Amino acid sequence: MAFRTRITEMLGIEHPIVQGGMQSVGYAELASAVSNAGGLGILTALTQPSPEALRDEIERCRAMTGKPFGVNMTVFPTINAPDYKAYAQAIIDGGVKIVETAGTQAVREIWEMLKPHGVTILHKCTAVRHALSAERAGCDIVSIDGFECAGHPGEDDIPGLILIPAAADKVRIPLLASGGFGDGRGLVAALSLGAEGINMGTRFCATQEAPIHDNVKQAYVDNDERGSFLIFRSFKNTARVGKSAVSEEVVRRLSQPDAQFSDVQELVAGAAGRELLQTGDLSRGVFWAGMVQGLIHDIPTCQQLIDRIIAEAEAIIDQRLAGMRA
Ligand SMILES: Cc1cc2nc3c(=O)[nH]c(=O)nc-3n(C[C@H](O)[C@H](O)[C@H](O)COP(=O)(O)O)c2cc1C
Repeated sequence: MAFRTRITEMLGIEHPIVQGGMQSVGYAELASAVSNAGGLGILTALTQPSPEALRDEIERCRAMTGKPFGVNMTVFPTINAPDYKAYAQAIIDGGVKIVETAGTQAVREIWEMLKPHGVTILHKCTAVRHALSAERAGCDIVSIDGFECAGHPGEDDIPGLILIPAAADKVRIPLLASGGFGDGRGLVAALSLGAEGINMGTRFCATQEAPIHDNVKQAYVDNDERGSFLIFRSFKNTARVGKSAVSEEVVRRLSQPDAQFSDVQELVAGAAGRELLQTGDLSRGVFWAGMVQGLIHDIPTCQQLIDRIIAEAEAIIDQRLAGMRA
């Protein structure tokens, strides 16, 4: 059996499982492995140092899979903002037809560039009101990220159990449930709550093909459901990172009265995080991780992981739930 939803149809994929964009992880190795396993793999545009490098990475990914894959564009206002439009042009030139976006409303200028080229826009947000606004503005699929998620859960702290059905009650375009998913139980739950697929980040980091150091993969296995911290709350830019000596120190410094970003800047720098992922030296910086770490106990291939999720989901529906019918 397989699951067919509006999302599998729109994206042309076998299973309703998407790998979310991940800075310094979303390279062709991972994206192609997810796509080859029947899900949707996603390259992360800004992981590439330039739009030209993104063009090459798209070509590399295409050589590694004949199946559909996407590119993530995360748009945040920063002092030295990258040339987002040049990255979007690289996506268009590369012929990619699925783009996952995240970030501020400025992302809509990118949609305007992409849509005339027949690109399906999958927009990630953390609140029902933002999902509705994205729908009105013409995105095709909303990925709704609950409080459990790695990365940026927003400031409302609504877990998926409430956020997903609350969004499903109001949003008419297909919904991907994101944040806290890692197994077949989660997939069945997401479909029950009104989503038409799941998006996973942390779980895909702990796979054979994730191009990060084994020590980091092992940290995802070793951390349990309490193994993540929220940081940057006081700056209204909350981020969920994995538990480690460094992230504990970040939390400690930021809990001091009048704490400033500069107090932790060197600990949370993007370059430090990149180095951590590559070298496996967890003392270098912080790494993104979600509460789903509590459900991660091994480091399978993407094919094994996706096959297992689908088999578990089928068994839950056909045996466990069917067996409970009075
Ligand atoms: C290592 C890592 C890096 C991430 N980088 C990005 C990013 O650059 N842009 C983005 O939109 N989301 C990013 N995310 C969030 C994921 O795309 C996804 O929304 C999230 O991980 C879902 O929650 P989960 O980790 O519980 O599955 C990242 C997540 C991880 C684990």
